[in-house]
Amino acid sequence: MKIYLQESITVANFSLFTFHFSHFIFHFSLKCRIFAGRMIYYFSGTGNSLQVARGLADALGERLCPMQTLPMLPIGTDGEELTGLVFPVYAWGIPNIVETFAKALPQGKQGSFLYAVMTCGDDMGYADRVLEAALGRKLDAAFSVLMPNVYVCLPGFDVDSNEVCKEKLRREGARVEEIARCIRERKPVRMLKRGAFPRTKTYAIRPLFNRYLVTDKYFRVDASRCISCGRCSKKCPVGNILSGPLPTWQSHCTGCLACYHACPYHAINFGTMTQSKGQYDLLKQLYE
Ligand SMILES: Cc1cc2nc3c(=O)[nH]c(=O)nc-3n(C[C@H](O)[C@H](O)[C@H](O)COP(=O)(O)O)c2cc1C
Ligand code: SF4
Ligand code: SF4
Repeated sequence: MKIYLQESITVANFSLFTFHFSHFIFHFSLKCRIFAGRMIYYFSGTGNSLQVARGLADALGERLCPMQTLPMLPIGTDGEELTGLVFPVYAWGIPNIVETFAKALPQGKQGSFLYAVMTCGDDMGYADRVLEAALGRKLDAAFSVLMPNVYVCLPGFDVDSNEVCKEKLRREGARVEEIARCIRERKPVRMLKRGAFPRTKTYAIRPLFNRYLVTDKYFRVDASRCISCGRCSKKCPVGNILSGPLPTWQSHCTGCLACYHACPYHAINFGTMTQSKGQYDLLKQLYE
């Protein structure tokens, strides 16, 4: 009787295991089917690159995948041979999180078409070359798109005026259409605004910027303004902010400034540099 009971328990455990395993396989294959094929991987802090990525995805009939959350499939998986990377330019280079993603992106089969679209407030230096170094391969096409500036942490840098924001956003649609046309035709082009002194900016200034300024240790919250709404925490694309009576930063910041811009009371500052600087709200710019 005891042996019989033990056997049925073992059989029950085994069937439970089989059930869970097939459940896992089912979901895994579903995930693969959803995320395989034509793909645009994107990273966006304050929404500009997401806006561009959405426009491209609509124009090209592709899927969108945030770089920071989804598993990666090799470039050109499923025989579709088209992979896009859309993200902002940081310090005439690429955000750390994009660099990590690019280094880990598995190489697909030869001949797959890989392109990058980089949004920037002004100019992008050799950001495409920084990306290529991280990818370990050449891009087949690369584009920059001028979008409202969100960098405010150094003297002389601030958000664009409403007029400049509106003008940049007005041109964005046509630029995305132009890029989509090039990609459809698999044109091996570089349509980039490098700006003046791109080598110095990318290879001399950027390393210093990354070393000293991509950090959350200078963020300060004005307790007299903060209402503990949790918006900064929700907006952080890498989950680096814990909500509480006051938000606290967790030391894995990628420097996007989404938290600074999202605070409805300008309670967050980066050192003393940003107290009199503006805040950027893409939706407000688009719909007001
Ligand atoms: C840390 C940081 C560095 C930036 N560096 C540059 C730059 O080198 N050149 C430039 O034109 N814009 C620069 N910008 C502006 C952004 O590239 C631009 O506003 C971008 O569209 C923001 O994209 P997102 O809203 O998708 O995050 C920088 C922004 C941040 C937050
Ligand atoms: S968004 Fe501003 S007000 Fe809301 S919790 Fe963060 S710091 Fe406080
Ligand atoms: S903590 Fe702020 S600046 Fe850092 S990644 Fe999160 S939202 Fe961006």
